[in-house]
Amino acid sequence: MKNMLVTGGCGFIGTNFIRYILEESDFEGRLINVDALTYAGNPENLKEIEERFPERYVFIQEDICDADAMRRVFDAYKIDTLCHFAAESHVDRSIAAPGAFIQTNIVGTFNLLELARKNLDRLVLFHHISTDEVFGSLGPEGYFTEETPYSPNSPYSASKASSDHLVRAYHKTYGLPVTLSNCSNNYGPYQFPEKLLPLMILNALEGGSLPVYGDGRHVRDWLYVRDHCTAIWRIMKAGKRGETYTVGGNTEMENIGIVEMLCDILDGLPVPKIHCARRALIAFVKDRPGHDRRYAIDSTKLRRQLGWQPEESFETGLRKTIRWYLDHRDWVDRVRSGAYQQWIASHYGE
Ligand code: NAD
Ligand code: DAU
Repeated sequence: MKNMLVTGGCGFIGTNFIRYILEESDFEGRLINVDALTYAGNPENLKEIEERFPERYVFIQEDICDADAMRRVFDAYKIDTLCHFAAESHVDRSIAAPGAFIQTNIVGTFNLLELARKNLDRLVLFHHISTDEVFGSLGPEGYFTEETPYSPNSPYSASKASSDHLVRAYHKTYGLPVTLSNCSNNYGPYQFPEKLLPLMILNALEGGSLPVYGDGRHVRDWLYVRDHCTAIWRIMKAGKRGETYTVGGNTEMENIGIVEMLCDILDGLPVPKIHCARRALIAFVKDRPGHDRRYAIDSTKLRRQLGWQPEESFETGLRKTIRWYLDHRDWVDRVRSGAYQQWIASHYGE
């Protein structure tokens, strides 16, 4: 792996992955980050990386749906490895406006696969980042594994399922060296404050309403983002080509339990007082259409075959995450206001 293309590196997981790869991992090559900078992409997250690794880190603002632009990137940087994060990632947005999900998640992935196929002679690996949501919803018992049949329920998960199938098909049909990972809910630094945890942390901090969908008893399996990054790198290095690995934290939590936990943690921290105990801010609101009831991952394959295990418990990860958002109020203000678009213009001359 000499020239690794990371797509969507200015988003939440991509940012954490690039930091992990350049600061902590044994990757020695060059990393090319291609990101279209949608509302979810923020190159400011990697400004320090750009300064510290000028020889090894390149940022290019491009859309993976633009096949010609992506071909130029492949040729110019002799890409031999891909780690493909770029996607529209928020379920509620996919319900409101599915078009962009079809374009980026399906057509964009197809473009990258075609380029990988055309450069098969030098291709070391195409790693595809996917989600446990492709498996649909679990009842009260059982876990998703690599054998679970696909049954996506939202436009987001259907588009991710489609991209997974394309990746597998390119392996079977053209012999593309691929690996896939299907991960549970990530949380941690740099997550855009539309997702449950950062949204609730910030609203609770400011005394705003905490909108819990439906009865709040929906279950997600939470994984601290750095633990996801170590899993991805382990799979990229040692995973069997053509195979899928499910990744999870073994941390099932009901949404209401999470919101209550973070309210109690914030009440106990030296943060500005509000007029009530933070639990009183919880408001049960209309449910998300097609809302999956429960996700839970069995990551035995990844643990046994590749020796991976997560480091954070939910409590330690949540405390770190809350601390990060408390310490990065200027980042929050900028991504909320859209001011980082001006930052992009001043740094990239647009
Ligand atoms: P995110 O929304 O925070 O970031 C997505 C990034 O992709 C942004 O930087 C955005 O600018 C970029 N992007 C979007 N469309 C693009 C395009 N057409 N061309 C180039 N770049 C584009 O998402 P995330 O939470 O970091 O998720 C990253 C990947 O991980 C996604 O594929 C998602 O499906 C998957 N995933 C996420 C989670 C989670 O809990 N967040 C869990 C499992 C899997
Ligand atoms: O499971 C992996 C998936 O996790 C990823 O593939 C997605 O990209 C990522 O967005 C995430 O999807 P979810 O829909 O699970 O995450 P979200 O943070 O939107 O919601 C988590 C749970 O909290 C879900 O049951 C819906 C609920 N929720 C969410 C929001 C934003 C609320 O009750 N209130 C809210 O305001």
